[in-house]
Amino acid sequence: MKELLIEPQIDSFDTFAEFADEFSLGGKDLILTNEYIYDPIMKKEDLDCSYIFQENYGPGEPTDVMVDAILREINELDIKRVVAVGGGTIIDIAKILVLEGAENVDVLYDKKELAKSKELIIIPTTCGTGSEVTNISIINRTRKGTKMGLTSPAMFADYAVLIPEFLKTLPYYVFASSSIDALIHAVESYLSPICTDYTEMFSVEAMKGILSGYCRIAKTGENVRFADSKMYLKASNYAGIAFGNSGCAAVHAMSYALGAKYHVPHGESNYQFFTDVLRKYQEKKPEGKIKKLNNLIRRIADENGFSGAAGIEDGIEILEKLLAEVLTRKDMKDYGVTEADIPVFAASTVENQQRLLKNNYVPLTQEEIQEIYQARL
Ligand SMILES: [Fe+2]
Repeated sequence: MKELLIEPQIDSFDTFAEFADEFSLGGKDLILTNEYIYDPIMKKEDLDCSYIFQENYGPGEPTDVMVDAILREINELDIKRVVAVGGGTIIDIAKILVLEGAENVDVLYDKKELAKSKELIIIPTTCGTGSEVTNISIINRTRKGTKMGLTSPAMFADYAVLIPEFLKTLPYYVFASSSIDALIHAVESYLSPICTDYTEMFSVEAMKGILSGYCRIAKTGENVRFADSKMYLKASNYAGIAFGNSGCAAVHAMSYALGAKYHVPHGESNYQFFTDVLRKYQEKKPEGKIKKLNNLIRRIADENGFSGAAGIEDGIEILEKLLAEVLTRKDMKDYGVTEADIPVFAASTVENQQRLLKNNYVPLTQEEIQEIYQARL
């Protein structure tokens, strides 16, 4: 049984300037980023690198059309290293750009074995995806009409670099939804049947970091997150290591149907089902790891003086109250979801998300999944 794999070397710097100096960024480097990240932090360094701003190739999540257009551009350049500076979209694209024979997305998906032709450095600028330490890229294959994951050992970064300076310009909503996503990575991998002693340490440390940070937000307001930037980056990285090894489960599985039809962003979509899935687990198998999770949440809330936890025994209820201090959870009908969507979502989750559902703490039937959707309407 595999206990733990961490492929990239993990580095941290206080600033982008220190990183650029240490890694001698120059003419053979391509930086893939967004202009709103480049302008306040990277521009002043005036580096001799090539830059690609992802938004010039299409909006939103990565598509085959977007990645092919970027490939056409960079295949004209003499590039030895790709530096991805951004959120999930940037990171997913960069993992494709470094592959050998990357003429277009379709060619790569058809290959039996993938190899890397350029070095890859990933610098996450949100505190959620953990994607800097995983080897999967999810591309919307518009020509095939489906979202598909491409995964290979060749798609691991050589270096994952954590630079808290980038969190300074992160809008509050992105901070909140991405860190909730990281917390869900930590919890789902903690409860996963393939959780190991090693990945559990990463899950627990991620939960302690994020939940204690949320207690400080509840106490003193949202701006306290800036003082905790380094902690959030590390916690989401720990959670990435944990789920990269032990997987995510029903929360992620259920969020895809909502996200795909109503274009709800990933973290927000996961937040919809997070505590309801935990409640269902607790109801079906109250003894076991969910009990340990419950105690852990209660202890963290107590130790960090979360006043909303006063008099509440149930850790999941405390978690719900704490999350509400960070981000308001909408109802599914606020996104336009109707009664008719509910059985369709449940069927699609069971049909398409077995990769995730197999990691559930306890198996959930289609009826139970439907009940959870129904309760969120
Ligand atoms: Fe996620």
